[in-house]
Amino acid sequence: LDGVALDRIQAGQAGGLQDIPGRSSRTGPRADGVESAHRKVGVVMVNPQLSKAGAGRRPLVVGNWKMNGTRASSVQLLSALRSAEPFDSDVSVCVPFPYLGEVALTLQGSRITWGAQDCSHLEPGAHTGDVAAVMLADFGCRHVIVGHSERRVHHAESDQRVADKAKTALSHGLTPIVCVGETLEERQAMQTEAVVKRQLSAVIHTLGHCVSQIVVAYEPIWAIGTGLTATPEQAQAVHAVLRAQLAAASTQAVDMRLLYGGSVTAANASALFAQSDIDGGLVGGASLKANEFSAICRAASAAVHESLGKSKT
Ligand code: PGA
Repeated sequence: LDGVALDRIQAGQAGGLQDIPGRSSRTGPRADGVESAHRKVGVVMVNPQLSKAGAGRRPLVVGNWKMNGTRASSVQLLSALRSAEPFDSDVSVCVPFPYLGEVALTLQGSRITWGAQDCSHLEPGAHTGDVAAVMLADFGCRHVIVGHSERRVHHAESDQRVADKAKTALSHGLTPIVCVGETLEERQAMQTEAVVKRQLSAVIHTLGHCVSQIVVAYEPIWAIGTGLTATPEQAQAVHAVLRAQLAAASTQAVDMRLLYGGSVTAANASALFAQSDIDGGLVGGASLKANEFSAICRAASAAVHESLGKSKT
């Protein structure tokens, strides 16, 4: 954020997408033709038939490919996903950096958006091996995952570093997907709530009420890649804690999307997405299989139809 925007955030005067430099400046058309739907400044582009609980909570399913695939297999996977379109939920794929150009081309004309799995907290400069948020924006990225536990653990990323990455991403018009989650030991020691609140509070402190522009993903570390999924009730309990914490920071918390991640599959997605504060998923292993991932995307939209049906009766 530039000095002016930061001052406004600190003074509590910021009030929407237009407060983040870069959001409103990205006016050029994007290859997939859905630029305006994603980026109309200050306008919530949702079909009211398909939004959950709050006014703007259209479900979101994000594939986290991690360090997998080849150029050829990426194109194959996306082509298969495209043939399963349309989805009633928002769908995005966060792919390895080197594939971004090809992914952008392959998704031309699709409503599926794309993003990356990390970015630097710094602006371009002498930072060997790092990738700047502005570069991701240049590739048409919509999302960037920050604070995934694999980066917190293997690259020693602190809560504050993750928050700074989220801020830099927002300032370049990207939507950061901020991951939080506890280890098994922390859960067993009844520390889950304290851990996720600590992780999220660094982000809230850094972004002020612009925190409403991010997506949060609750990913219990013990569930990632292990085949052990949090039960829908366990996940919902943490999501409710996170939403309450966000609500204390922003009046728009009710419209924020909170994703669950950790061994989401086609078999368990519906039960997870049926929870009132779970608005979709961050999907690792299952996002590498087109059939499985499309089934998860369909489960997300079905959960919304179901909850709307219930609320009518
Ligand atoms: P998983 O990974 O679905 O393979 O458990 C989720 C993630 O790490 O984002």
